[in-house]
Amino acid sequence: MTFTYYGHSCFELSLGGKRILFDPFISGNPKAADVDINSLNPDYVLISHGHSDHIADAEAILKRSGAFAISTYEVIMWLSKKGCENGRPMNHGGSFKTDFGTVKLVNAVHSSDMPDGSYGGNPAGFLINSREGDFYYAGDTALTMDMKLIPLWSKLKVAILPIGDNFTMGIEDAIRAAQFVECNKVIGVHFDTFGFIEIDQEAAKQQFADQNIELILPKIGQSMKL
Ligand code: NI
Ligand code: MN
Repeated sequence: MTFTYYGHSCFELSLGGKRILFDPFISGNPKAADVDINSLNPDYVLISHGHSDHIADAEAILKRSGAFAISTYEVIMWLSKKGCENGRPMNHGGSFKTDFGTVKLVNAVHSSDMPDGSYGGNPAGFLINSREGDFYYAGDTALTMDMKLIPLWSKLKVAILPIGDNFTMGIEDAIRAAQFVECNKVIGVHFDTFGFIEIDQEAAKQQFADQNIELILPKIGQSMKL
């Protein structure tokens, strides 16, 4: 499993020989100015909710690459109206078997509307069970008791959690989230993109380390084997 970071909550996993891109928001992120969305050729695009900082580049990437979109019913219907018809609508609690693993749509406590203001349904996270390990991306969310369900379905290799506070969990609740999902390896996302979500990176790593949890804060463009 290889993880590549494209800034904010956008990253790609290579898993089972497939490239899975999450929450594409690159062209509107000045910190990701060195990433060219035309260089991305995912097989799948997974979108956690309708906010533009998670979906802004989805239409362009889906149309050019022909990738298969997986998201909530409302997000997939919105994309299909834009001509991105290759997708799978899901809702919370449901699973979908793919050729890279099984995707389960799980709860997130947040909000969701589409960039044009239309109804975005409820936000979600993703749990992926694969032959290369189990992986949880929380999406944008508060700490929630629902995270305690994750270990019933998985033995996580890594959890990708928002840590920037204000719109999502901050550091302290992300540590509790890692404990709830029983994972001691966390990749932090949704931080430092704009003023409301700036963090002290070294202090954050230390706070996690104090609880025996590794916090990885990837650099934009960085790839790592998990
Ligand atoms: Ni959001
Ligand atoms: Mn967001």
